[in-house]
Amino acid sequence: MKVITLENAAQIGEQLGRFYVDFVKEHPSCVLGLATGATPLPTYQYIVKAYEAGEVSFADVTTFNLDEYCDLPKDNKNSYYTFMQENLFKHLDIKAENVNFLDGNAADYEAESRRYAQAIQAAGGIDVQFLGIGRNGHIAFNEPSDAFTDEAFRVALTQSTIDANSIYFDDAPMPHYAMTMGIGSILRSKKIVLVATGASKAQAVKGMIEGAVTPQLPASVLQQHADVTVYLDKEAASLL
Ligand code: F6R
Repeated sequence: MKVITLENAAQIGEQLGRFYVDFVKEHPSCVLGLATGATPLPTYQYIVKAYEAGEVSFADVTTFNLDEYCDLPKDNKNSYYTFMQENLFKHLDIKAENVNFLDGNAADYEAESRRYAQAIQAAGGIDVQFLGIGRNGHIAFNEPSDAFTDEAFRVALTQSTIDANSIYFDDAPMPHYAMTMGIGSILRSKKIVLVATGASKAQAVKGMIEGAVTPQLPASVLQQHADVTVYLDKEAASLL
């Protein structure tokens, strides 16, 4: 793991946003794995500015998002589909047919998992996967558990995740289930970037980098991937 510690979230957004813009310019047909939540926002903002300045096109880029809530309509304001439209896709020239999400309302979750795995494979695999990290060490919505997962599956969210994300659900209860890419799907990405900002992530970051590899702290599995870059702000790095 390569660890880069910067002053704050804004600096990470600039450095990583620059990386993405250069990567897409060099590989216009690349496949990006994307995350939602507060963590990627500065990076997405940098990408949008570069696009608006005419610096880069996403017309041939394909994306796969990590996760989506179950039992929430796709067009709900809190769906991850809506999050991505609002914060990234609607600002770019990316084609709707190149944007991929897990269906949190699928009738058959196992068939949905197979569909997503096949779509990733048909696209040639994920070139760069963006990850945030949960306070409990989750990546995507792989919560602490007894075994590492492989392909996408339906997960019961833990109380830690519900507490962290229910702030966004001001007018309805937060779903307690989600469809998430599994650990195997994440590890098959060619390159992984993980960003952690803020003191609430410091304990999980310490476990991920310095602890044993254990499904009780799912992000620790990244120690086994050959190309991971971790971007931290000072607070997230404070226990290292
Ligand atoms: C989001 C995702 C999650 C978040 C994590 C951190 O698609 O997969 O693992 O990255 O919960 O969330 P924030 O960035 O809101 O602190």
